[in-house]
Amino acid sequence: MRSLLVGLTLIAMAIAAPRMAAQKVELSIDASKPGAKIDRHLFGQFAEHLGHGIYEGIWVGADSTIPNTRGIRNDVVAALKVIHVPNVRWPGGCFADGYHWRDGIGAQRVVRLNPDWGGVIEPNTFGTHEFMDFIDQIGSEAYVSVNVGSGSPQEASDWLEYMTAAQATTLEKERAANGHPAPYKVALLGLGNESWDCGGNMTADYYLDRMKSFSHFVRNYNPAQMEKDQMLKIAVGPGGSEQRWTDWTETVMKAYQQHTWSWDINGLSMHNYTVVKWPPAFKSVGFGEDEYAQILKTTLDMDDLIKKHSAIMDKYDPQKKVALVVDEWGSWYAPSPGSNPGFLVQQNSLRDAILTALNINIFARHADRVRGANIAQMINVLQAMILTDHEKMVLTPTYYIHKMYVPFQDSTFVPVTFDAGSYKHGDFTLPRVDAMAAKSKDGKLWVEITNVDPHHPAEVELNVTGINAKSVAGETLTAPKVDSVNTFDAPNTVVPKPISARAQGGKLILQLEPKSVTVVSVEQ
Ligand code: AHR
Repeated sequence: MRSLLVGLTLIAMAIAAPRMAAQKVELSIDASKPGAKIDRHLFGQFAEHLGHGIYEGIWVGADSTIPNTRGIRNDVVAALKVIHVPNVRWPGGCFADGYHWRDGIGAQRVVRLNPDWGGVIEPNTFGTHEFMDFIDQIGSEAYVSVNVGSGSPQEASDWLEYMTAAQATTLEKERAANGHPAPYKVALLGLGNESWDCGGNMTADYYLDRMKSFSHFVRNYNPAQMEKDQMLKIAVGPGGSEQRWTDWTETVMKAYQQHTWSWDINGLSMHNYTVVKWPPAFKSVGFGEDEYAQILKTTLDMDDLIKKHSAIMDKYDPQKKVALVVDEWGSWYAPSPGSNPGFLVQQNSLRDAILTALNINIFARHADRVRGANIAQMINVLQAMILTDHEKMVLTPTYYIHKMYVPFQDSTFVPVTFDAGSYKHGDFTLPRVDAMAAKSKDGKLWVEITNVDPHHPAEVELNVTGINAKSVAGETLTAPKVDSVNTFDAPNTVVPKPISARAQGGKLILQLEPKSVTVVSVEQ
């Protein structure tokens, strides 16, 4: 009886509680004014030999009781196919500059340690062929980072010949004998990783000299990549905004301006994690509005960082031939309690979903220069799409944002104007809403709107010119709390739900939940 009374009282209180007033936002979109292409490679992923990112996350081995195809888990492949991963960066990260590709081919694998990440055994059972099989299974492309730190141009050159040669060289025959007669495609090539730090602690000048050698000697021989689909070479770029990073960008780009036929680059990498301060101390779950506001405020620094380095690139490359490739980004929190700190395990909440949308929108607004980005990392590490525990798998809020954004891959940016207003919490003030629009490859107009405010719904009035907009429909993602997560036991706490607009007086009105991400298409 008592519990019935308590229940009725709570229901009465909920009915009586005033719903927070919706904040009105006017979005104007002129669909006749398309901008830059939003490259599908902005949605790239990163899979490093780190913790359970590869082993268990992707690779379980052919003898595993976990359903797999040639050792690669089927549940993970099925989930990744849905989000149309354009490229996977591998094998690192810091791991790449200690990686020797011969350890990971053939029947006899070389067992080593992984000194970067927990000092654990690296069995090398997942090597070149397994990686290529994996990206083939998920329908993606290879972004291979070669070892500039502890390797040599010759070692990297041999690796590329092994992977891509079509003519009967010794390395081509070895690849065929190992099960793959056809040359592999290598879409992107990373010339080192963080060479200013774990990649060898180099000065910019020293790196530049080494990078030129690698750029020249590390060739792609795949006949299908000679004329079109040429492999893009990505040089190591900055990791922050301080002078040491702007100097680095200056050094590489100044040299690029004067580069000769014998070396070239197509991209400059940039790494930027949302971390507030090192070592990462923010909790990935079990936090409140303070940490929500501070992390999202910090993540917006991505915009200034891109502007800063783009301005330097513009000086030496006004035609924007060299892409800025943000090939490591995402949230980096304190390790989950009880986990190996070297494995970078963290939970993934609604806050991460919103952080993802904000960053992708920043990349899209700079799409003329930012033509690649790789969230760190794909599975079980940092801001992951997927978490696994032996045979169990769960999709994170970040995964669902990637799913909702699929129509933006290779779309054309369309400018949106709106008054964002502000969301204030304590010392932090952020734009209350964010929005982005683009025309997908099939000509359809797509609009994304993020309501950062965790308390107030937003009433969005869409004014679309340039097309005859009749209705909008799509999906929205929110959850009860800013730190709501999906777990193996409750996998559907943060999942997208359908949403549509109501037409009112010739306008399209969308009601957005607080702390939500919404993607809709405009029907004509
Ligand atoms: O993603 C984890 C690590 O962060 C990468 O290995 C390194 O490049 C960066 O410092």
